[in-house]
Amino acid sequence: MEFSIRALAPEKAKTGCLVLAVHAGGNAGGNNLLRAAQAADKAAAGALRRVLAQGDLAGKAGATLLLQKIPGLAAERVLLVSLGERKEFSVAQFREAVRGTAAALKGLGARDAVFPVADFAVGGRGLPWAVRHVISGMRESFYRFDQLKTQKKPAAPALAAVTLAITGAPVTLQAQAAVREAVATADGADLARTLGNLPPNLCTPSYLADEARKIAKQFKLGIEVLERKDMEKLGMGALLAVTAGSRQPPKLIVLRYAGAAKSKKPLVLVGKGITFDTGGISLKGGAEMDEMKFDMSGAGSVLGAIRALAGMRAPVNVVGVVPTCENMPDGAATRPGDIVTTMSGQTVEILNTDAEGRLILCDALTYSEKFDPEAVVDIATLTGACVVALGHVASGLFANDQKLADEILAAGDDAWDRAWQMPLWEDYQEQLRSNFADMANIGGRPAGSVTAACYLARFTRKLRWAHLDVAGTAWRSGREKGSTGRPVPLLVRLALRSAARRG
Ligand code: BES
Ligand code: MN
Ligand code: ZN
Repeated sequence: MEFSIRALAPEKAKTGCLVLAVHAGGNAGGNNLLRAAQAADKAAAGALRRVLAQGDLAGKAGATLLLQKIPGLAAERVLLVSLGERKEFSVAQFREAVRGTAAALKGLGARDAVFPVADFAVGGRGLPWAVRHVISGMRESFYRFDQLKTQKKPAAPALAAVTLAITGAPVTLQAQAAVREAVATADGADLARTLGNLPPNLCTPSYLADEARKIAKQFKLGIEVLERKDMEKLGMGALLAVTAGSRQPPKLIVLRYAGAAKSKKPLVLVGKGITFDTGGISLKGGAEMDEMKFDMSGAGSVLGAIRALAGMRAPVNVVGVVPTCENMPDGAATRPGDIVTTMSGQTVEILNTDAEGRLILCDALTYSEKFDPEAVVDIATLTGACVVALGHVASGLFANDQKLADEILAAGDDAWDRAWQMPLWEDYQEQLRSNFADMANIGGRPAGSVTAACYLARFTRKLRWAHLDVAGTAWRSGREKGSTGRPVPLLVRLALRSAARRG
């Protein structure tokens, strides 16, 4: 779908569908119609107000009402969309309104639509914000994963172009930049979603490496893929222990985008890339085990974020580090009780082979020291305990630097891809005690997501580091099962905001 932005009077828009925003409440009187709707109503001699007075548009944010051929308007159709009560209008209602609009547009024959974006702006967030969020909401709703279905049902929607219309003001450079940024971010999020949705027999570590090579080729990025023998040379005993039971060769992907001066230290993104997590010898139960194909979502989000930043030519330096392998049971698999030496030199007693994410991450984090990073952020579907703590709304955030944590929280709020900070206190470290090695890889039942982060903290002492546990946010279960593409929007905002700050 193509997005563009231009100055345009709504009543004159020759389009398949003109979207007009209306607040609920009152008796559908004048102050409920937003600017574009008011202008259109005037041109249509009050036709919209009369329709609204009939009470056919529900008050809930996201409710829609489709009208055909309104005299006085150039548009073929008008889609009235409710923003809910004016005094309750906030980001959540905004998102509902965009979602409702997208759902209605999907079912139409219209090939293009006009969206008066300024009317959707949430107080205090500004026009570029509204532009970004209309586009991300539309793209999210229109995403499909049907490449493995032999019959594509329903047929692809007709809508191919959306014009964001600005009335009564010129289109600013910032608004135009917001379009480019949002489209590239959506491309990155779509990539992450598709990688997540692909089945584990296709989306293997080698497949991820090939995808990274494709991105590198398309955007002229630096790429390096470390093989098992390289990992052996580097002493990555923890990563090697996880891959030991798999027939698929492990990979460590390094993808570099340089959009800023060489002197600028890079942001390093490290993504957990377990393409299937059976638990290994500490085998998982059978229920919903298929969802462990999403255990490479951190890796997908790193590739997606870099693709987004490269696609918009962002003025940032970013390095993606993706350790990827399978966690399988086998005669050669790692046993509970095995002790391995990590790249850092510290030894780990693997008491549970299902706590494998932290094992591949600890070696990747040590490896990322070599990039002399400004900051390192790892992204991982790390613990079921994080889902218990935060559900499917917020990603869990842990950091050894409060400024970095605050930047991530702010970026998540800006992108509406939110995180919530959890403690990384020394007090939890004793749960990782081992009788036989420097540490164990599990910390028992209490505070499972905290002890997982505490484990990683032992490998990031030389780094400004944060960890995002996306176990609850990277995919949806049930009828709507599928990858969400989170936290690509957060990561992109984080990189852009820090570039803007440092100038
Ligand atoms: N990939 C899982 C975490 C996970 C589980 C994410 C369920 C989303 C839903 C991770 O590798 C894992 O198995 N973690 C264990 C750790 C435990 C053995 C300390 C867990 O959370 O149960
Ligand atoms: Mn596991
Ligand atoms: Zn896992």
